[in-house]
Amino acid sequence: MLIKKNNLEQLKDSEKGHASTYSTRFFRESVPKYEMPDKSMPANAAYQLVHDELNLDGNPALNLASFVTTWMEPEARRLIIENIHKNFIDHDEYPQTEVIHGRLVNMLARLFNSPRECTSIGTATIGSSEAIMLALLAHKWSWKKRRQKDGKPYDKPNIVFGTDTHICWDKFARYFDVEPRLISMTKDCFTITTDKVAQRIDENTICVGTILGTTFTGEGDPIKKINDLLLKIKKEKGWDIPIHVDGASGGFVVPFVYPNFKWDFRLPQVKSINVSGHKYGLVYPGLGWVIWRDESDMPKELIFKVNYLGGEMPTYTLNFSRGSAMVIAQYYNFLRLGKEGYREIMTNVINNARYLAKRLSATRRFIMLNEAQLLPIVALRLKEPSKFNVFDLSAKIRERGWIISAYTLPPDAQDIAIMRVVVRERFSRDMAEILFNDIVKACKELDKTGSITVAAASSDVDQKHIC
Ligand SMILES: Cc1ncc(COP(=O)(O)O)c(C=O)c1O
Repeated sequence: MLIKKNNLEQLKDSEKGHASTYSTRFFRESVPKYEMPDKSMPANAAYQLVHDELNLDGNPALNLASFVTTWMEPEARRLIIENIHKNFIDHDEYPQTEVIHGRLVNMLARLFNSPRECTSIGTATIGSSEAIMLALLAHKWSWKKRRQKDGKPYDKPNIVFGTDTHICWDKFARYFDVEPRLISMTKDCFTITTDKVAQRIDENTICVGTILGTTFTGEGDPIKKINDLLLKIKKEKGWDIPIHVDGASGGFVVPFVYPNFKWDFRLPQVKSINVSGHKYGLVYPGLGWVIWRDESDMPKELIFKVNYLGGEMPTYTLNFSRGSAMVIAQYYNFLRLGKEGYREIMTNVINNARYLAKRLSATRRFIMLNEAQLLPIVALRLKEPSKFNVFDLSAKIRERGWIISAYTLPPDAQDIAIMRVVVRERFSRDMAEILFNDIVKACKELDKTGSITVAAASSDVDQKHIC
């Protein structure tokens, strides 16, 4: 049948057998941005509109600003798709997922050297932020119960941590009404120190927060020395102050690359540890973990037993519903890689970070901030004098597609601006070489043009947005 041009216009899009998605009316009109549209649209049109708009996002493979996983094996992706429709909290309906969750908690507790005589417990979370809040909340409750038992006031809890922590620590202090006793960075020390911890703790300290690989420079707080200090204080003054280790990034690197480095439950005051499954646990976002050394470190009052969907279920999370797929993907990685696989991957990423750091150092333009290379990141600042700053360099290499963060350090080191390259599994030696050449080229161009950006203003609010 021949269709005249005018009639063709009147036909519904779905009736035009020859019409491509892009020739439908949905691509002639703008997309609603404030009000939900009155009418529906075909699935292919909705897909294409959203898909195309998201092309404006950066390329995850070139995103070296984030610690979060951007690549998983096809088999892992298959498991993720197969399980994406399961609500993790429906334990009665999906009991095997809960069994797997329990196995993962066991494996992590052992990876973190939980003592044989302890019964470690833990849970999956949406990320390290939720994990940290749950751990610190447990410490607040344990401190309160100890104070109540001793007939002492419990209205002024405090927590000691450094400004080298992630914003979620500040959030905990504010959301849960605990006085934060902050330890600032200095121009030549970007972690907390034992002396500064000693100056801030007292009988109302619910916990000392330490970081295994800071978000800012990747360095580690002196966890063992702080543990020794707290053991001494416990003996001398009777204050039993726990340590929480934020192993968001380091928790899946250090056990494999530096197994003899003591930062975990081998240290007696370390009572809880968080780690991000979605960082070097090599799972897509959002998955975190919190593990307590022993069940006695987790007050029972905080575990709710809900009668839900046919069974009694214990729950200690800030969220209720969440996806199961990432928990299952973590299990896939543990089975598939084993300790051997994680060790190989983590050694590789550390070596590629070292390679990049060495090449950049050799240009004599940069000062490396994390020589110890606890984490596979390259944190560097520009040597003075320079005609440009790290914000210029970050913007310049963005023209090639590379996404690399540049930021100023928190108070009192806010005058120091640094650039950070996070090396992940997918960043090969070949990519390191290409990035190195691009950075050198960008520096040469900036030598000619001078600064091309307005340096980011420094304020303690803005600095902690990096992840
Ligand atoms: C040391 C540290 N702690 C906590 C977090 C927060 O983790 P999440 O994004 O998993 O909530 C991050 C995030 O990058 C981090 O680097």
